Amino acid sequence: MKSVRPLFVVFEGIDGSGKTTICEAVFAHYANAGLPVVSLREPSDGTWGRKIRELIQRDAMPGPEEQVQLFIQDRDDDVTTNIRPALESGKMVLLDRYYYSNAAYQGALGLAANHVIDENRRRNFPEPDRVYLVDLEPAEALRRVRARSGASTGRDAFEREDFQALVRAAYLSIVDGRFFILDGHMPAPSIVETVVRDIDSLLKP
Ligand code: TYD
Repeated sequence: MKSVRPLFVVFEGIDGSGKTTICEAVFAHYANAGLPVVSLREPSDGTWGRKIRELIQRDAMPGPEEQVQLFIQDRDDDVTTNIRPALESGKMVLLDRYYYSNAAYQGALGLAANHVIDENRRRNFPEPDRVYLVDLEPAEALRRVRARSGASTGRDAFEREDFQALVRAAYLSIVDGRFFILDGHMPAPSIVETVVRDIDSLLKP
């Protein structure tokens, strides 16, 4: 037996921080090693998640409180459909964004980040074993987003530098013992190595 119980691991960071790249590489590492592992993301690929992505794309998101409810609906769906079944069947779950994004992004829109966390915890969503926060200054993160997507992407409201600075501050305000902060300036392979070493230590009985 390689693992005693499946781990639930979350990746967080502002847009352009590199968290998706890191999450994908960590997934590839464990999948190649033959460990039962799934990689998921929020907003999810379910009905609510697709609706949210479409609203963001059209710059048509409602106010912050309504946004919290939308993301929670999607999360509820994701937990029931994907996360719990995977954990219950013994698979490690790697999740690209979870309710910490809810606290950081809707927190940046003026809500109290800790209240958003509490609201999610009241739903009894599973608690992750580890949250990797890929930390990077908004200016550098935004340079990466622009390089990736060419010119304007129509998502200016979510991707402006001052907004991302608020998101970063909100993330840093909710750090607890579950968090592992990663320096987003480091080359991706070395960040991945750090994460893998840490997950391996968590997997040891
Ligand atoms: P993201 O995974 O960054 O999308 P993409 O891969 O298309 O860049 O997520 C889309 C946006 O949703 C992102 O800007 C953060 C936001 N978001 C919230 O505002 N609250 C949440 O609870 C979640 C999960 C995401």
